[in-house]
Amino acid sequence: MTDLAHLPGRDLDRQELAELARHVAEHPQLWADQVAYDDEHRHYVSLHRDANVDVWVICWTPSNDTGWHDHDVSSGAVAVARGELVEHNLTVGGDSLRTSAPAGHSFSFGPDHIHRMTGQAEASVSVHVYSPPLWRMGQYAISRTGVLRRTSVSYADELRPVDEPFPHDQARLRDTLLPS
Ligand SMILES: [Fe+2]
Repeated sequence: MTDLAHLPGRDLDRQELAELARHVAEHPQLWADQVAYDDEHRHYVSLHRDANVDVWVICWTPSNDTGWHDHDVSSGAVAVARGELVEHNLTVGGDSLRTSAPAGHSFSFGPDHIHRMTGQAEASVSVHVYSPPLWRMGQYAISRTGVLRRTSVSYADELRPVDEPFPHDQARLRDTLLPS
């Protein structure tokens, strides 16, 4: 059993991360007093952070959107406790994939994973665990010309979609690639 009282004192693998996320999600006494919702900014609270793992509870409305991101060197897991989220996976040359994540659903990922999470149902709650703890993250933006760029951000920076991330590049690309 992997729970907050019995952590092994080392980095967790994906199975352990998924177990921990599910365990915390199934014990609302660990996070229920932290729940709040905001359409403008996802509401999130750190439940635990040590040298090997960090644990967050995140509250979602349908307006909340992380934008495309990765977790740098961290593996992670998500367990949905209430409501419903959608995980989006980026594809090249096609529409992104959408996977519904209703309450009771959990998934894990490695540091290779790029995704975007959005709220689907009102009053959704999820538990997110990362090992090693999040320190840097990659935030992605896609210009109107389809150019994908990664920006390294601190885990303390809230991830939000970037609408006009590279104005100079976009102006240059518009000049060279788009009919005026
Ligand atoms: Fe993520």
